[in-house]
Amino acid sequence: LSSIRVDVGGIEPGTQLTVQYLGKPVFIRRRTPEEIEAGRAVDVDDLPDPLAENPNVPADSPALDEFRTLPDFSGENTGEWLVMIGVCTHLGCVPLGNGAGDFGGWFCPCHGSHYDTAGRIRRGPAPANLAVPVASFEDETTILLG
Ligand code: FES
Repeated sequence: LSSIRVDVGGIEPGTQLTVQYLGKPVFIRRRTPEEIEAGRAVDVDDLPDPLAENPNVPADSPALDEFRTLPDFSGENTGEWLVMIGVCTHLGCVPLGNGAGDFGGWFCPCHGSHYDTAGRIRRGPAPANLAVPVASFEDETTILLG
């Protein structure tokens, strides 16, 4: 499988970039402190999908905020970097981002699925959290997908 490199040096907190990878949109968001705090405040027991859905951590990892985000190049997981496949887990529409929906994250307008600031499904027909792709920082400003 092919990998791609994404320069994230220009992404300010509170903004995101969408790139195409393997024919799907991938959202790369640099979260604000408020978004991180909101994501970390959630009790996993309240989540419809209790799993992290992140191939970069062990498969049974719970959907805690820190298991959804990508560690930076130093290996520190500040919670700033959230990388997700931008495909609704219901029927595959592309959710709207930048704080959309009732949980400050993403909203899928097709049938009304609300995702939170960590891309976890909170309300609506989608059965699972937005999937995280295989990803890592290759240097301080470059994310390698795949
Ligand atoms: Fe997103 Fe149905 S495809 S809610």
